[in-house]
Amino acid sequence: MPQEPADPSSAPTGGFETRAIHAGRDFVSDTGAVTPPIWLTSTFEYGNPGGFDYTRSGNPNFRLLERALASVESAAHATVFASGVSAITAVVSTLKAGDVVVAEENIYGCTYRLFAQVFAKFGVSIVYLDFTDPASLEEIAGHRPALVWIESPTNPNLKVIDIAAVAAATHAAGSMLVVDNTFASSYLQRPLEHGADLSLLSTTKYTNGHSDALGGAVCTNDLAWRDRMIFAQKALGLQPSPMDCWLTLRGLKTEAVRMERHCANALRFATFLEAESGARFVRYPFLLSHPQHEIARRQMAGGSGIVTADFGRSLEDTLRFVESLRYFPKAESLGGIESLCCHPASMTHASVPREQREKVGITDSLVRFSVGIECVEDLIEDVRTALAL
Ligand SMILES: Cc1ncc(COP(=O)(O)O)c(C=O)c1O
Repeated sequence: MPQEPADPSSAPTGGFETRAIHAGRDFVSDTGAVTPPIWLTSTFEYGNPGGFDYTRSGNPNFRLLERALASVESAAHATVFASGVSAITAVVSTLKAGDVVVAEENIYGCTYRLFAQVFAKFGVSIVYLDFTDPASLEEIAGHRPALVWIESPTNPNLKVIDIAAVAAATHAAGSMLVVDNTFASSYLQRPLEHGADLSLLSTTKYTNGHSDALGGAVCTNDLAWRDRMIFAQKALGLQPSPMDCWLTLRGLKTEAVRMERHCANALRFATFLEAESGARFVRYPFLLSHPQHEIARRQMAGGSGIVTADFGRSLEDTLRFVESLRYFPKAESLGGIESLCCHPASMTHASVPREQREKVGITDSLVRFSVGIECVEDLIEDVRTALAL
């Protein structure tokens, strides 16, 4: 009979790779299986040792993934959700009418849309600031925010925000800091170590890494926040599927080696674009030319796998370039082993009004590359050919 996953106090210690692989391993007591099963059940008989009752409020596959994610995010607790957007919804559902959120202005398009088109109707308002401007830190307290919300690096401009500085200003204002850690990944950056209160992940991206499951997570050291997240998981029906949790846990086991390769490929790719493509600018956190390069070096262990470039072309030429790439299918997502390419203005950020989009630098000539783990010379040759067409 499946046992409740081991007590967190017996969770493995050691390096990231060791914890990612061994967290929760010691639970299938009577089969010897080294890989956990998938508990495809909606319902559990009352009185079971794990205390499970109904999968909307918990399932062994959730618990296994939650323990592993907490471990790799240096958090005491993690709660998993159906998607990154579900995780965002869970956090915002804790607010009430009249609350204000102060957020980085280059926030992910769907987060922007949730605030503008859903949460605004419930009386939650949002103020956008440019968190790369030190003056923004002085402004936080004046808004009396219930939450401060940043991403770092941001999507798609790859602005790097000083998490420790924003955390200090947020706490001085009596508020809580949420960091969307999706673009960095848990391997390269752990926001709670820099003072954040919540680290949010779309596990769909680098955690899973294989573009075959959706998921989200909220990691925290705060028990009250953990309880709020578990409540949101079941009360709002934001729970993931056991199958997706199983796939995500399998992906997490190779996150460290995948991220090493993503970082090496992306740095080489960005260096090529900067030197040879004629782009107006190339953004990558570990390029010396990145405006917040020093902060990136301080809070990230690598530059991650996303590279953004502005080729200074018309909308038609930019789309023609993107569509003629061979190894970069045009697609919304990122963080998988395969390279992908995105035109943010017409795809991920199409829901952001043009005026707001252009104000934060999401122009028609901007292209976002999710650099995969293929042979990087093939990727470079592909771009060289498409630019010459
Ligand atoms: C930074 C960021 N946060 C959250 C999300 C939402 O995640 P999901 O697509 O898993 O709902 C995304 C998706 O692209 C993202 O890029």
